[in-house]
Amino acid sequence: MIDRNVYEEVSQAPIGVFDSGVGGLTVAREIMRQMPKERIIYFGDTARVPYGTKSKETVTRFSKQIARFLQSHQVKTIVVACNTASAYAIEDLEAELDIPVIGVVKPGARMAADVTRNGKIGVIATEGTIGSGLYSKYIKSLREDATIYGKACPLFVPLVEEGLWEDPVTVEIARRYLTELIDLDIDTLILGCTHYPLIRSTIGSIMGEGVTLVNPAYETAVALKKLLAEKNLLNEVTPPLGSNPYQFYVSDGAEKFKQFANSIIKYGILSAKTINIEEY
Ligand code: DGL
Repeated sequence: MIDRNVYEEVSQAPIGVFDSGVGGLTVAREIMRQMPKERIIYFGDTARVPYGTKSKETVTRFSKQIARFLQSHQVKTIVVACNTASAYAIEDLEAELDIPVIGVVKPGARMAADVTRNGKIGVIATEGTIGSGLYSKYIKSLREDATIYGKACPLFVPLVEEGLWEDPVTVEIARRYLTELIDLDIDTLILGCTHYPLIRSTIGSIMGEGVTLVNPAYETAVALKKLLAEKNLLNEVTPPLGSNPYQFYVSDGAEKFKQFANSIIKYGILSAKTINIEEY
């Protein structure tokens, strides 16, 4: 429950956003752009990243701990910005939490089902997200005749974190990963991992103009705005100047996190605090 001594109205409480690390900042960035009055509490699990190679049980346990941490900060809703955590843990979180929870998989799947013309959709993501089959399941529930081709692209995450967004090495690796999807004649490609929107132009130039790229980070912010409006939870009041509406927490390496965050978000990240997530 939201503590009324802290926020006058529930709608003024922050949105909790979490990811395995820095990648979820692509989702936080979209929320900041689309809902500039909202406060955000972001948690990046930098001590335990990556999630993409871990089991469903582990990722679900981590996700539940983080949800408890975010709830201790009075969040009004939780955004599971990590595709892998969304794919593995969203149903458990929905069952356990008494506040609205939204993941990135459903909004991305919905947009892909909407925009495809030939019904052939590619999904690129971590091994975990592809293995979960959740993108396929959601797309099929909306468009029965769709054919979904999943492709794990494990090297993209470290390349993005190294800042090699348009480097020839990234272009070459992207070509190797994506050629089979081009050969399969897909017309829509879901960027099903937090990091991939940052190499969107590299991916787009390889796939060509005929392929629509779907960015779940963007679609999630659109869906979140709708959800908050439906539940009367949209914040109509601009947070007062100097009130630091964006707060960042990590489980390790706060300084490195801050540097990466400042390279992709134009609002200055004033600080990032390290906490012990195992306590939650
Ligand atoms: N955030 C993860 C995702 O979107 C990618 C990084 C990881 O493997 O933890 O799936």
